Amino acid sequence: MIHDLVIRGARVVTPGSVSTCEIGVLGGTIATLGTGLEGREVIEAAGLVALPGGIDSHVHISQPSGPGIEMADDFASATRAAACGGNTTVMPFCLPEEGQTLREAVAAYLAKAEGNCLTDVSFHLIVKSVDPVTLGQDLPALIAQGMTSFKVFMTYQGMRLTDAEILQVMAVAREHGALTLVHAENEDAIEFLRDKAERAGEIAPVHHARTRPVPVEREATHRAAMLAEVAGVPVMIVHVSNGEALDEIRRARERGVRVFAETCPQYITLTAGDLDRAGFEGAKWVCSPPPRDDAQQAAIWAGIEQGAFDVFSSDHCPFRFADPAGKDAPGARASFRNIPNGIPGVETRLPILFSEGVVKGRISLPTFAALTASNHARIYGLENKGVIAVGKDADIVLWDPALTRPITQERLHHGSDYTPWEGFEVTGWPVRTLLRGQTVMLDGEPAGTPTGSHVARAKPEVTP
Ligand code: URP
Ligand code: ZN
Ligand code: ZN
Repeated sequence: MIHDLVIRGARVVTPGSVSTCEIGVLGGTIATLGTGLEGREVIEAAGLVALPGGIDSHVHISQPSGPGIEMADDFASATRAAACGGNTTVMPFCLPEEGQTLREAVAAYLAKAEGNCLTDVSFHLIVKSVDPVTLGQDLPALIAQGMTSFKVFMTYQGMRLTDAEILQVMAVAREHGALTLVHAENEDAIEFLRDKAERAGEIAPVHHARTRPVPVEREATHRAAMLAEVAGVPVMIVHVSNGEALDEIRRARERGVRVFAETCPQYITLTAGDLDRAGFEGAKWVCSPPPRDDAQQAAIWAGIEQGAFDVFSSDHCPFRFADPAGKDAPGARASFRNIPNGIPGVETRLPILFSEGVVKGRISLPTFAALTASNHARIYGLENKGVIAVGKDADIVLWDPALTRPITQERLHHGSDYTPWEGFEVTGWPVRTLLRGQTVMLDGEPAGTPTGSHVARAKPEVTP
């Protein structure tokens, strides 16, 4: 067989093993893994590591963020940054604008993505209202179209659902076959602390972290797992930031509840101290849950090493810093309450975990592949993605495991004007990303035309 493309000489990471072999690509699919393969094009990759293209199952792109506030990335810039960071699929959240139905919102998102994406995309939904149209019509129709996961919030005014409402959403997930993702922080407790802080004149960015302490996440995580137990569904707890919340997940699993867990780079590398920088600078690190401290970072690392986390995502939620439509929003300097929540990270997620995890000997290459690609594909139903195996999409990223350089804003491709990891030293960088066999990043720069498309997903297993 003559392949369209052969990748030769790389150490190839397949589920559970690493071996030197050739990868033959035909029609955008991995056709052969072997030796002596023939191809019309050959990539010589000796000294490089071939991993499945990253799947970032938690990103926010062009999401409505309140009056006058604008996310820093559209689909073009977010997927360009994603490809440059070694990703081939991203999963953004589809949030209806005021007055829009979920189905209208999905149609608008698909139109925004169409023709602009350098990676594939696959949407999660956000459920912020349990009206009969959303639960009875939109969710079942969208699940049938392959949008088989949705996020609910226990925090954020205007977004949070009550326990009763979350149970209604989980019942739809069970009936129609979808996975519920939960943002677990207790809004009432946060508001109590926020109000107290403001009355004491504690208005600087660091008070964002101090008013969202570990117990508010621990309690909400316990409650989310309990609600899933009662509803009889599996649940994904997103962006777990600390060991106490992870312990709640472990306890629920011991009771037989199927709880998936996600963590992110900010919880293994940043701390609340970053929000405490002089002046307004700390706003760059305002995200929820907030980064914690060294001890909680160690607890998250222990969870990663023990296999307690299923997925490692970025929670890319980019705002510009020096911008009244971003972090410097009206009122943001008068109270941390008004600082838009979220940090950019889609381009730096993989290099950070490769460097801190693989290069420092904490996790193996197959574990890295599972945490950054294959588990995302399996849990969310991306059937053709996530592993280097015959028959799968040729979504492959070549890594130079010895390339050392710091993260710097000037080399990144996102729409934000800063990175929370400025100067962070990384060993191991992706040097070429291929989406269905087409090069979309070469030597750290975007390449080719945007051929990414929306991928419909299979239904996850929904009985616990
Ligand atoms: O601060 C964050 N994480 N913003 C993004 C929205 C969310 O809660 O995931
Ligand atoms: Zn969230
Ligand atoms: Zn998020």
